[in-house]
Amino acid sequence: MFKIVTKRALNDSVILMSVDAPFIAKKAQPGQFIIFRIDEKGERVPLTIADYDREKGTVTIIFQVAGKSTEQLSKLNEGDSILDFVGPLGVPTHVEEDAKSVCVIGGGVGCAIAYPQAKALHGRGIDTTVIAGFRSKDIVILEDEFRAASNELIITTDDGSYGKSGFVTTALEELITSGKKFDEVIAIGPVPMMKFVCSVTKKYDIKTTVSLNPIMIDGTGMCGGCRVTVGGETKYACVDGPDFDGHQVNFDELMKRNSTYREQEHACRMMAQAK
Ligand SMILES: Cc1cc2nc3c(=O)[nH]c(=O)nc-3n(C[C@H](O)[C@H](O)[C@H](O)COP(=O)(O)OP(=O)(O)OC[C@H]3O[C@@H](n4cnc5c(N)ncnc54)[C@H](O)[C@@H]3O)c2cc1C
Ligand code: FES
Repeated sequence: MFKIVTKRALNDSVILMSVDAPFIAKKAQPGQFIIFRIDEKGERVPLTIADYDREKGTVTIIFQVAGKSTEQLSKLNEGDSILDFVGPLGVPTHVEEDAKSVCVIGGGVGCAIAYPQAKALHGRGIDTTVIAGFRSKDIVILEDEFRAASNELIITTDDGSYGKSGFVTTALEELITSGKKFDEVIAIGPVPMMKFVCSVTKKYDIKTTVSLNPIMIDGTGMCGGCRVTVGGETKYACVDGPDFDGHQVNFDELMKRNSTYREQEHACRMMAQAK
């Protein structure tokens, strides 16, 4: 059993938890994830390792209450335990040794996944620009954390209620056209956002890494659930990713596959909320 050490709401639907998991904390690297199972009847759910404390032996996860399992997890409190918490899984994020300037882009809860990347790059002395995009002011998360982990932070809101009005792609293109040079862009968020970031960076020939979120089951390359097409080849996001070259990803296929169980997911959530 894995004990929840701290729990904090970041906004109305996003929760941060640190979990006592010393073996995972010891080995975790930015870009990796865990799979949890709440109890013996629980689904296996992947969540990115948002942070870790090797000394305390804790791993931080940040999750959006999106459906049945995340709803169940959100109801647990400090001192409660989760049955399974497996990891670290996936390949750590790789940024070239000689990269001098990187732009990290997070969209919504994708910012939770983007944060450890920004922190690690900034910690390596790389000039790190963060663009964090949200629908509106009330759901902005991790602002202080990003400020500490970047040379420049731009917050955008779709409705203009906070920061810069508009999408992350507008802010990115403005930076590029004003002369800012990036060796690499890392984009993490909703699939359409990653797709549009890639179409901007392709224009300017900037290497772009995306973190994919297909439906995962075992997380060890055995079930094929997380199959994605990258550069015309089949890859398994759990063992070959979740990071991939964004210019090679078939985003339309990913969006289609991710919507396969929408009806069942909705029905399960309704049942979980009724309990
Ligand atoms: C590598 C990886 C890292 C992720 N990291 C985070 C994170 O740090 N924070 C966060 O909020 N979310 C993260 N997600 C998404 C998270 O796994 C889903 O939100 C979660 O599975 C929803 O489960 P549910 O039962 O609450 O909702 P459901 O109603 O079952 O599903 C809601 C949405 O989540 C997706 N989803 C459902 N089951 C899975 C599954 N087994 N694997 C992947 N996606 C699924 C569905 O496509 C659906 O759109 C990550 C996904 C992947 C693949
Ligand atoms: S989750 Fe089963 S192969 Fe990746």
